[in-house]
Amino acid sequence: MQIRDQKYQIQGVDLLDLVKEHGSPLYVYDGEKIQAQVRQLQDAFSSVKLKIKYATKALSNINILKLMKKSGTGVDAVSIEEVQLCLHAGFAPEEIMYTPNGVAFSEIEKAVELGVMINIDNIPMLEHFGTKYGNSVPVCIRLNPHILAGGNAKISVGHIDSKFGVSILQLKHVIKVVEAYELDVIGLHVHTGSDILDADVFLKGAEILFDAAREFKDLKFLDFGGGFKVAYKPGDISTDIKEVGKRVSEAFKAFCEEYGRELEIWFEPGKFLVSESGVLLVKANVIKSTPASTFVGVDSGLNHLIRPMMYDAYHGVENISKLEGPERVYTIVGYICETDTIAADRKLKEVQEGDILAIKNAGAYGFSMASNYNSRFRPAEVLILDGKASLIRKRETFEDILRHQVDLGI
Ligand code: LLP
Repeated sequence: MQIRDQKYQIQGVDLLDLVKEHGSPLYVYDGEKIQAQVRQLQDAFSSVKLKIKYATKALSNINILKLMKKSGTGVDAVSIEEVQLCLHAGFAPEEIMYTPNGVAFSEIEKAVELGVMINIDNIPMLEHFGTKYGNSVPVCIRLNPHILAGGNAKISVGHIDSKFGVSILQLKHVIKVVEAYELDVIGLHVHTGSDILDADVFLKGAEILFDAAREFKDLKFLDFGGGFKVAYKPGDISTDIKEVGKRVSEAFKAFCEEYGRELEIWFEPGKFLVSESGVLLVKANVIKSTPASTFVGVDSGLNHLIRPMMYDAYHGVENISKLEGPERVYTIVGYICETDTIAADRKLKEVQEGDILAIKNAGAYGFSMASNYNSRFRPAEVLILDGKASLIRKRETFEDILRHQVDLGI
């Protein structure tokens, strides 16, 4: 989003015009930004065999998935429904990594039928897998490296108390199971968390993966998960992807030499690829001054963007209806019957009823975590690609609220 010709634009498309056409609240994604992020990652790892498996859960509109496919990525899917969505969007089964957690074995069986790469994260499932498939289906194992990293406790998933992955301390047990069933383990995986700034965390993860990999003879890839940090707050910095690329690639090449085979290196970023591409445009319904604060009540809330409530996440906000004039401090709140503060104490160009505010960095885990709480409709979505804006999801209607309800006629 930038100001050009006195207007807030993405690729020359005026954002206020989009709201006039499609209404608010509206998610808008910059397809060029997504493509640029993919390229940046590809460039950072150009000296090794990189495969990007975009974390579908971050933003799962089929057009975003198709754009990823066009940009040369594969996908990581965490549910059978995401697997089906990725297949629907045109990914070949072999481009899809399926990384479930806590699912029934029947879901894993379904994924095997669909022909995708299976990533197993606990020993009982590995045993079920061995019993049913032996070495007839290749498999990847998700290890928990016991690294405490990530932006906050809720998105830190590689520590010793986390439910994810097989503890690295249980590696001997894993190997026994692998030998007993002669499993064809072709990949090992770690994912330590989200919002990870420090290249050292990725290197620490790499060392743990290399140590484990020495125990397996037929690996084809090592998967380092996702988690690159993007800058949300002023003064925040994003993960230096060039530095991570350089240092991890060097360590990876040295390991491949020792291993005697050129392995593929996989990453599964979500936020890094789509977060900054997205803005959520909302309308100021009411400006309410109290003795303590001035609130701007907008036509959205935790039902459309839950990150501020769930993780105390910071999202930048701009009043895109005003380019000039005085600024005031506001607390931007939603219209949900909860304390859904979107942003507290922010300086904005003076807000009037009907002004449009842009909530920035809303591409990742925005729409994909949206709900119908308070029986509100979920927003429409627009993708801007090659300077052209297209509606990629219609706004819901009252029929959608009723769709699966069964009226008992009481
Ligand atoms: N791979 C695995 C196995 C994951 O569990 C995740 C995220 C990713 C990759 C992608 O992580 P990313 O690159 O997007 O950080 N809703 C939270 C983030 C939860 C992430 C869950 N897993 C948020 O809005 O901050």
